Formats: sequence, C-alpha cells, structure tokens
Amino acid sequence: MHARRIAVAALSATLVLAPLAGCGANGNKQEATQQQETQQQGTEQKQAAINYMVLVNKQHKLPDGWEEALDLVEEKSLLYEDPVRVERKAYEAYKALKEDLAKEGVNVELDSCYRSVAHQQEVVDEFTKEKGADYVKQYVAVPGYSEHHTGLALDLFLVIDGKQVYENDEMLKHPEVWEKVHAKLADHGFILRYLEGKDDITGYAYEPWHIRYIDSPEIAHKIMDQGLTFEEYLGEADEAKAANAADKAANATTTDYEVDYGTSSIYTKDDIDAAVKVVMAEFGSWDGCTMQKIAFTDDNTCKSNVEYANSLRKDGTAEFTQAMVLVSDFRSPSADKAQGTAWEPDTDYKDYTWTLGRSDGGEWQLLTWGYA
Ligand code: DAL
Ligand code: ZN
Repeated sequence: MHARRIAVAALSATLVLAPLAGCGANGNKQEATQQQETQQQGTEQKQAAINYMVLVNKQHKLPDGWEEALDLVEEKSLLYEDPVRVERKAYEAYKALKEDLAKEGVNVELDSCYRSVAHQQEVVDEFTKEKGADYVKQYVAVPGYSEHHTGLALDLFLVIDGKQVYENDEMLKHPEVWEKVHAKLADHGFILRYLEGKDDITGYAYEPWHIRYIDSPEIAHKIMDQGLTFEEYLGEADEAKAANAADKAANATTTDYEVDYGTSSIYTKDDIDAAVKVVMAEFGSWDGCTMQKIAFTDDNTCKSNVEYANSLRKDGTAEFTQAMVLVSDFRSPSADKAQGTAWEPDTDYKDYTWTLGRSDGGEWQLLTWGYA
C-alpha cells in the first residue's frame, strides 16, 4: 500500500516518544519519575482497553471508541512527510521482528500503518486516480472498514540490495523474500492478513506486505501454521464469503449483464431485482463464469412452481406463497479455470434455470438451478 510518497534522505528511523513536559536538563527528577509512572499507567490502561483480536474487515467496522483507547507511537517515515504511527505493543513487536529478520539478511521497513478514517479516504482517492476503481476494490478498504484504523496493521516494504522496494507490483515480484518474512511473523505475535487465493474470504487480493498484530504468538502460530485467514480462525469465514460474493454480484449487476424483466402482473421490478441479486450471490462464486443475461420467465411459470418450491423448502422455514423462475445465459470459464469443474470450457450456456421461493413478506431463497 503506497500513497503520498516523498523523498526522505535520512535512512535512520527514530522513535519519537511523547515528550515529558517539565523534564528538561534542570527539571525535577521526582516530578519526571512521577510523570513517567503516570504515562506508564496511562499506557497500560489503554492497552487493557484494546482488543488485540478485533476483527475489522469489509463486514466489520472499526469498533466505536477505538481511537480514544489507542496508544500510538511514532517513527519517522522513510517514505512520507508525516511520521508512521503504530500501536505501542505492535511497534515493539515489529522492532523485534525486524531485528530477527535482519539476522537472516532480510530488511523490512514500515510503509503505511495507522490511518485515520480521513486518511483512508485520501488513499482511496489517490489509488482510484492512479489505478482505477477495480483495483481499489481489490486492495483498498472503504474508510471506517480498514484494519489500518486499528493501529495494529502494518504495511511493510522491502530494502533489497540497498534499494527500497515499495510499489505493490514491485513487492509482489519477491515471493522468496516474503516467504522468509512470513515465516517469522507468528513468533512475534503477527499474522498475515490477506492470503493468496483466499480473497473470497478476506475480500482483498493477496497482500504479502500487510501484517497484523494480535498480541499472542501462540494464536498467531495456530493461524499461520495452518495457513488460515483471521476470519477462518474466528469462525467468521462463511459469513464473510457470502457477503463478499453478494457484494461482488451487486457491483456487477449494473455493469456486466442484462436483466430482462419481461412482463408481470404479480412482480415489480424491485421483486425481480431482489431475486436476481440472490441468484448473483451464488453465481458470484462460480469462478471464471460470466453472466450475460438474466430473464424473468412469466407469471404462469412462476405460479405453477410454487408447489415445487415448497417441496424444496428447508425444515423450519415458513411456507412459500410465491415462486420465481428466472433463466440465464452465461459463459463458462476458459480451459485453465474450467478444469476440475462441471463446465465445458469456453461455452455459452443458454436458458439455464433458477428457481426461488419466498413466503409473505420474506426474502427470496434460491432453491435450485440447472437445466430442467
Ligand atoms: N489494504 C487494506 C485492505 C486496507 O486498505 O485496509
Ligand atoms: Zn495494509
């Protein structure tokens, strides 16, 4: 993650702690000690208020009151005018991690760490301008939903042969270096947050540079040793997956395919849109398939499927009073992605049928799909 870069000549990083007021060269020693103690107590209180296992992702906003409890330390940035800010314990752990890695000849530095909600908006704007909206969806959180707000997320960059490597695309070219970095994370209470091939759960593309402090090397090891996402460890993966798929589908709705509403005297456009959204939440997880068209069938087909819909109803759900039958045209993935799936590669599937049911006042439930 990289935005608002400035050239900074000095390569030495300095930890800037909050100055102890009244503790100059001639200051009163006792007063200084008291202040140190008060500061120490303040730090401990703040750390106690921080939940180091907090989940912040596309579905979970930064908890209220978080910023007030956050105890940040600053380091002079090698890349930006403003200093880098990190939660105090996370910073200490980072220093130990950095030292550990240096012994192996791997040099990491801090790029972007704590970001306020306003700063996140700047990052969104900058990346939208530079890389476009699609890139932003894959790599940048909506303000309020960024893990960077916690102060516990650190974006690292690499120094390789004395050269700073900080652009995302460049950093991705060094998997062997990241492997060494990732191998040391858990020992220091960090995990890797956006894993390769798990963007359906995390909601973001692979980010080898984004690490997250959780304050427990033991739990970090459980997560990292099994290659889990934080969501999986916390039992939130299913919820995240469904929400991300629905989100993807909703974004695609207006741009990628056509909806044919036909004519209906029982359903409004909103009823049909709601059903299409449910279909697309499922379709969104069909890797590599592209929807071309979804069409409403007709009132009679829908009415005559109410009984069938009820035969597919799950125990405990209210009886369906309405059914909706949609047909779609979509294209299957190319050979590499179609492998191991039921799809013929690169084929247009026409009139593929989707049946949904709902009870009075309820949401559409997708019941079955395929060829009748
Ligand atoms: N790059 C991560 C997803 C963020 O913007 O918080
Ligand atoms: Zn990040």
